[in-house]
Amino acid sequence: QEQKDQYKARIKQLLKEKDACLVAHYYTDAIVQEITEETGGCISDSLEMARYGTTRPEKTLVVAGVKFMGETSKILNPEKRILMPTLEATCSLDIGCPIDEFSAFCDAHPDHEVVVYANTSAAVKARADWVVTSSIALKVAEHLADQGKKIIWAPDKHLGDYVQRETGIEMLMWDGACIVHEEFKAKGILDLKKVYPDAAVLVHPESPQSVVEIADAVGSTTQLIKAAAEMPNETFIVATDRGIFYKMQQAAPGKSFIEAPTGGSGATCRSCAHCPWMAMNGLENIISALETGEGEVLVDEALIEDARRPLQRMLDFSA
Ligand code: 13P
Ligand code: SF4
Repeated sequence: QEQKDQYKARIKQLLKEKDACLVAHYYTDAIVQEITEETGGCISDSLEMARYGTTRPEKTLVVAGVKFMGETSKILNPEKRILMPTLEATCSLDIGCPIDEFSAFCDAHPDHEVVVYANTSAAVKARADWVVTSSIALKVAEHLADQGKKIIWAPDKHLGDYVQRETGIEMLMWDGACIVHEEFKAKGILDLKKVYPDAAVLVHPESPQSVVEIADAVGSTTQLIKAAAEMPNETFIVATDRGIFYKMQQAAPGKSFIEAPTGGSGATCRSCAHCPWMAMNGLENIISALETGEGEVLVDEALIEDARRPLQRMLDFSA
C-alpha cells in the first residue's frame, strides 16, 4: 500500500508538471481507475473516451486503455501529445482486421456504406464512412438503413449479428471477435442462475448470440453500469470484462456482481473475463510514460485527415 501511495503521489506531481490529464477505460485495473478518479480524469466507455480529449485544456493526454483508444485520441486531437502507459496493448478485433484485406473487401462492394467499430486501426478507420462504438451501433445502423444504404460491418461479427437481429437489417460482415467476450458461455450462466435465481444477467454485445439471448440487459459498458444501478435486482451476473466491477460497485452500492462463467461447468474462471491488453496498464508505466515521454502515440498525418471524418461523424451523431 505504501508503494502504491508513493506511485500515486508521483503521478499527481507529474500530471501537474507536464500539463497532462488521465483518461481510462472501465476495463483497466481498479488501481488505474482510482488514480484517474483522484486526479479528476475521466473513466468511461470508448465513445466518451474519444470525446473527452476534445474537451480538455491540457496539452498532454495519458490514455490508459488499448492502442485504438490512443490512436483515436490522437486523430481527434492532433495538436496534443497523446501518451499511453504501453504501446503494446492492442485488441483482437484490431489485429483481426488488417487494412489490406479489409480495403480489398470494401473495394469488392463499392455500393456499400462502410461502418467500422472503434476497435480498429487508424488505417481501417480512414477507409470507413462511419465509426461506431457499442453504445451507438444500433442507432447508426438504423439511421443508415432509413436512408436505404447497404452496410459493410467490421470487424466484430458478434456485435454485427446483434445489430442484425435487433434491427432486421442485413449487413455484409467481417469475421472478427473479442477474445474476452467470445469466451462467455450460456450454459455456465444458466447453471449459475440456478444458484442465484434472482440475479439479472448483464451482457456486452461483443458476446456470442447464445449469451446475448439470455441477457436481461445488453449494452455498452456505460449502459451496463447504468442498468446495474437502475434495475431492482440485488445480484448481477456480468458478461463483460471484470474491470467494470470497480465502477459498477460505485454506481450500485450494496449490490453483488458475479463474473459470468467462461467455461461450460458453471465454475467461474478467475483468469478469464479480463482483457490481457487492458491489464498491461499500471501505475508504474503511467509514471514512466510521463517521465520519459515514451509511449507517445503517433499517427501518420495523411491517415489523421481521413480517419477524422468518420470519427467526427460518430461524435456529432451521438452529441
Ligand atoms: P465500450 O466501452 O464502448 O462498451 O467498449 C468495450 C470494449 O471492448 C472496449 O475495448
Ligand atoms: Fe479488444 Fe476485447 Fe480487449 Fe476490448 S476487451 S480491448 S474488444 S480484446
